[in-house]
Amino acid sequence: PSGQTTDTRGRLLGDLRISVTDRCNFRCTYCMPKEVFGNDYQYLPRSELLSFEEITRTARLFVAHGVTKVRLTGGEPLLRKNLEVLVEMLATLKTQDGKPLDIALTTNATLLPKKAKALKAAGLNRVTVSLDSLDEVTFRAMNDVNYPVADVLKGIDAAHGAGFTSIKINMVVKKGVNDKDIVAMARHFKGSGHIVRFIEFMDVGTSNGWCMNDVVSSAEIVRMVNADMPLIEVPSNYSGEVAQRWTYADGSGEIGVISSVTQAFCSTCTRARVSTDGKLYTCLFAESGHDLRALMRSGKSDTQITSAIGLIWNQRKDRYSELRTAETTKHKKVEMSYIGG
Ligand code: GTP
Ligand code: 5AD
Ligand code: SF4
Ligand code: SF4
Repeated sequence: PSGQTTDTRGRLLGDLRISVTDRCNFRCTYCMPKEVFGNDYQYLPRSELLSFEEITRTARLFVAHGVTKVRLTGGEPLLRKNLEVLVEMLATLKTQDGKPLDIALTTNATLLPKKAKALKAAGLNRVTVSLDSLDEVTFRAMNDVNYPVADVLKGIDAAHGAGFTSIKINMVVKKGVNDKDIVAMARHFKGSGHIVRFIEFMDVGTSNGWCMNDVVSSAEIVRMVNADMPLIEVPSNYSGEVAQRWTYADGSGEIGVISSVTQAFCSTCTRARVSTDGKLYTCLFAESGHDLRALMRSGKSDTQITSAIGLIWNQRKDRYSELRTAETTKHKKVEMSYIGG
């Protein structure tokens, strides 16, 4: 089919987030804690990963349902060999309006000095970098493998140098850990053209030990930044944008806050996620996925797989963040490194 596909709550299927690897060179305590992701952790073997051809085919089938944005995530996507080749393949796809797909990457930036130019040349449109603190001790403790802040800053500079603009910097805020670094983060990137986004710490997966007391609300974050550098709220760029935008009153750029806990945005959630091994998840907090890889590897046609995707989306009811309680937090959920952030 060609057209727009909606779920039970009238939400379109607009963006696709693909995890290209379940591995990462960081062990962020809130995402891949060492106690779980230790030396003997069994990552997916190569044969289980979707190939670049399978990923591109998947993206093409989702485009038939109206997808216009594809985000490559992980794990750390740049650990996947020759990722620029995948970008080049995705860049050949056209949306239903005949426009190029919007292709974005979420990365910890450590491999950007090596990769930024090739990614830009391959047709990558946007880069989002995860960076939780500019304080050396705090950052090293959070990535838990002693990566220095400088490595990430070099990666951001490399992306900028390669021609990426409006780079987004994502900071997950955890109370008592890096909330003291919020204002410094905002100040550092003010005037740089990059956009810092503060993210409320979420209960993804089953290994990060989340509790409500660890969350600093977006409202509080805005108050803290505003007290130092006055902010003005501005309307979103497009309907369903995850971040609420605030610009500096002096015109020197903007920040965003992502309130997935205190102000859930499920009602406008148009995101589908495909895990490293090709399962379709209709929510970040889903307990299980739908095996698209099995369909592809058993020789199903494009038409068959496209209609399977349509049926799954038509039945989608997810709104986890609207229903979150201390109880739901304990449910079995897939890990973010596997499903993609
Ligand atoms: P843009 O295309 O640049 O607007 O990207 P985005 O706003 O989708 O942002 P990004 O992909 O960088 O997501 C930022 C963070 O928001 C993620 O790392 C998650 O922590 C959170 N997030 C994104 N999508 C969802 C979602 O569907 N549900 C929930 N609960 N959180 C999400
Ligand atoms: N809560 C909020 N955001 C998270 N991310 C990973 N785990 C969490 C969590 N528990 C974000 C990271 C990164 C992206 C991959 O997902 O900050 O930007
Ligand atoms: Fe790796 Fe990103 Fe998870 Fe940190 S948050 S462990 S950088 S995937
Ligand atoms: Fe979408 Fe699920 Fe996140 Fe709600 S909790 S915004 S439905 S991914």
